[in-house]
Amino acid sequence: MIQGILFDVDGVIFDSEPFIKEAYYKYYDSFYHKTVTEADMAPYVGTGEGSSIIGLGESLGLDYDVERDKKGIYEEYGRLIKGKLQCMNGSKRFIENAHKAGLKLALATSADRSKLDRSLNETGLAADLFDFIVSGDMVARTKPDGSIYRYAASGLVLENDQCLVVEDAVAGHMAAKRAGSHSIGVKSSFGEQELVLSGADLVMQDLSEFPDFDSIGQFNEIYKSLCEEFRKKSLIGTLIEKASKVIENAYAPYSKFKVGAAVLTANGNIYCGCNVENASFGGTICAERGAAMAAIAAEGRTSFNAIAITSFSDEPAPPCAICRQFLSEFAGPDMQVYLYSLKNGVYRHYNFGTLMPSVFELD
Ligand code: THU
Repeated sequence: MIQGILFDVDGVIFDSEPFIKEAYYKYYDSFYHKTVTEADMAPYVGTGEGSSIIGLGESLGLDYDVERDKKGIYEEYGRLIKGKLQCMNGSKRFIENAHKAGLKLALATSADRSKLDRSLNETGLAADLFDFIVSGDMVARTKPDGSIYRYAASGLVLENDQCLVVEDAVAGHMAAKRAGSHSIGVKSSFGEQELVLSGADLVMQDLSEFPDFDSIGQFNEIYKSLCEEFRKKSLIGTLIEKASKVIENAYAPYSKFKVGAAVLTANGNIYCGCNVENASFGGTICAERGAAMAAIAAEGRTSFNAIAITSFSDEPAPPCAICRQFLSEFAGPDMQVYLYSLKNGVYRHYNFGTLMPSVFELD
């Protein structure tokens, strides 16, 4: 049961992404006489100023200085938001509902506290609605590292799986999943597919789509049913459906344990596999490896962004250790893993790094 909400700030609570981008464009133009574009900025959305300044500085060949540039960018940001910065559609109402319902609330931004304070002052949103605030200047590594969300959950005295993250950025969803939290994606900066593939459980335009609630129980019921609805009509549902279809072809006369798998490659193709057993038991091939083999046969050296695995067990079957090691050559820690039981509809969602924290590699 979700007991706490960890909010990303920019693009989730405040409609600040256009202003911070503009602040970068102005600062780089006036200080370095360089034109920075939206495409230059895209990899750094949600990662904090440290990584943006270093990333831009390296790619544009600048003699950058993180503290000096950050100060200049935040000053521009402060000027730009004057009389203009608004809360995102629905965010204030959602936060007030959550506060009244008794959910514990935290802010978790990769940006520095000084930027957050500028935004809070400008919009008049009360900082005391939040029980804990973590900013990028309080952690060694910002998003996509999971530490901001681990720190935020511990500040609320909750486990990460008791917390729901609300995020607009790919890096933020990776951070949420690496920490082990549930997450809602809002589409201020990225599209549905990108948010799902970085770990979002549910994607909406903004928080105005989340109905009113007045208790923690009601909040959880609404969240669960929104997730189920979303799953069915999203890429997650497509993968589960394909794995559920191919399981019909599983050959499991010895164990009677049928498994279906569907992998999504980075090229956007889906390949399926089912388990095939053998009277010489060690010759058995699992569904996941079957799907992976089909993908590799079709695409050559490829990489996987997501995998769905279906079974008829009470607890949906996770990939066995051999399959995890096998998949690790073609998938990074942020591959999405969706498990679904065709017996009782139980669904689990992990990132691969959680299931396979230490991969065996040859020197
Ligand atoms: N199995 C899979 O297909 N995937 C796994 O990751 C675990 C096990 C199959 C292999 C065998 O046919 C049956 O499940 C029982 O082990």
